[in-house]
Order: sequence, then structure tokens, then C-alpha cells
Amino acid sequence: MYKLIDGKKFSQEIKEELKGRMAELLASGRTRCLAVILVGNDPASAVYVRNKEKACAYIGIRSLSYVLPKETTEEELLELIGELNRREDVNGILVQLPLPAHIHEEKVLPAISPEKDVDGFHPFNVGSINTGRPGYLPCTPAGVIELLKRSGIEIEGKECVVLGRSNIVGKPMAMLLLRENATVTICHSRTVNLKDVTGRADILVVAVGRPGLVDGSYVKEGAVVIDVGIHRDENGKLCGDVDFESVAPKASAITPVPGGVGPMTIAMLMKNCVCGME
Ligand code: GUN
Repeated sequence: MYKLIDGKKFSQEIKEELKGRMAELLASGRTRCLAVILVGNDPASAVYVRNKEKACAYIGIRSLSYVLPKETTEEELLELIGELNRREDVNGILVQLPLPAHIHEEKVLPAISPEKDVDGFHPFNVGSINTGRPGYLPCTPAGVIELLKRSGIEIEGKECVVLGRSNIVGKPMAMLLLRENATVTICHSRTVNLKDVTGRADILVVAVGRPGLVDGSYVKEGAVVIDVGIHRDENGKLCGDVDFESVAPKASAITPVPGGVGPMTIAMLMKNCVCGME
């Protein structure tokens, strides 16, 4: 029988811890403020942004929201980021992705001051993960590590396979698992004999962005399976990259979608906002 990894419960625990920490900070006259920028009207992004604001309010972090029209120019966005970089009352700046096609992520993300880059996407923070310098950890991969630790799943010495190589999940995920002394493989759409590779995993992290791609035939008996994907199926129901029905019976532990990794991403963002670079 598999164990369901309850991200909602763990994220609530983390938010309670942070609320306590934030109360101490406020009592000593220190505040936290997160600025969230959303460009355009992607409905999924609007939901994420709202959830981030709600989490801030719950913990006691002030939040500023900038909802900009999709026609906003790159220059206008860079100007706003510059202004927020200079504001002493703002500690965190987050630009919700994806951005409209005419705005270049690779120009915008490095414009955020690394000290305020609570998403951990600035090249300085990306480099910090690799070298072990203090820096912000990207929220989704950090949330996966926290899920594993709080579930009592040992990472050290384990064969960990990350399926997906994006800059915001796959690559930093591999690096964080390596930091926990796992043996790590990254595989992707061009991997030859993909199922042979994923089938070796003691811990399989799936972040490919393809609904239900990973079925039971990708997974070793007894593996821990972490599903980072989030999609809506044809009936409007949320689902992940993992076909839960066929994978769960083979897994020793598995995350649900929703209620697995998703809430942890927000909890780790809140941690970055409250605790700063660690
Ligand atoms: N879009 C999807 N995931 C993320 C995230 O973690 N941060 C931001 N800023 N945008 C996202």
C-alpha cells in the first residue's frame, strides 16, 4: 500500500512556523513586503498570484500587486523592477511566469536585485545553489526536498531521477538532490530508453509538463514518485504529469495533484520572503 504525501498538510505546518517567526520580526519592528508583478491575463497565473497574496496575508507579510496589461513593454516592466529594487520597504520581487512573448525572460529575471529575488531565478542565485553560497533556493525544487524530509524519506545515497530539464524545476531539482547526497540522473524527451532510466529511480521527480505521461511502466516497484506537473484535463479536473491510477499501486509513496507539490511551492516562497537568503 502506498503512502500519500500530503503537501497541503506540510505546507500548512510551514506556514504556521513562518507566522510565528513573522510575529517575532514584527514585534522587533521589522517588516516584510513582497511585490508580485503579473503581466497579461493568463487565468492560471492570476490564480497563482492570488494564492501568493493570500499566503502573505495569512503570515503577516505585506504584499503589493502589480497587474499590468499584456501590451506592457519590456522597458516599462524593467522600469517598474528598477523602482522596486530601489524601494527599501520592499524585500521580495516576483515576476509571474510565463511572460507575454514580446517580453524576454532572460532580460527581466536578471534585472531583479539578487537580494530581492525570492523566486531564486537570478543567475547569482542559480550559481549559489551550485556552489553552496548563501542564496535564495527556487521554490518548487526546495518544496520537493522539504516534502521528502518531512515525510521521513531518506535522500542520501538514493538513486534519484529527475524527468524534465527546465531552468525553474528540472535543473535546480537535480542540484538540490545532489546537495542531499543523492546519486542523480536528469532525463528528458530526447533520452534514449527513457523507461530504463526512470525505472532505476528510488525517488522519481516528474516535471515534464505533459499530462499523465508517466504511467506504471516507467516506475520501479517501491519507488517514491513526486509529481510536479499541473494541468486541467478535458473535464476541467486538475491532473499531473503522472498517471496516478497506474503509478500509485507500484509506488511506496506518491504526491497527489492537487495537494502535493503545488502548496509547497507557495510555502517555500513565503519562507524566502520571511527568512531572506540562507
Ligand atoms: N510560473 C510557474 N511557476 C512559477 C514560479 O515558481 N515562479 C514564478 N514567478 N512564475 C512561475
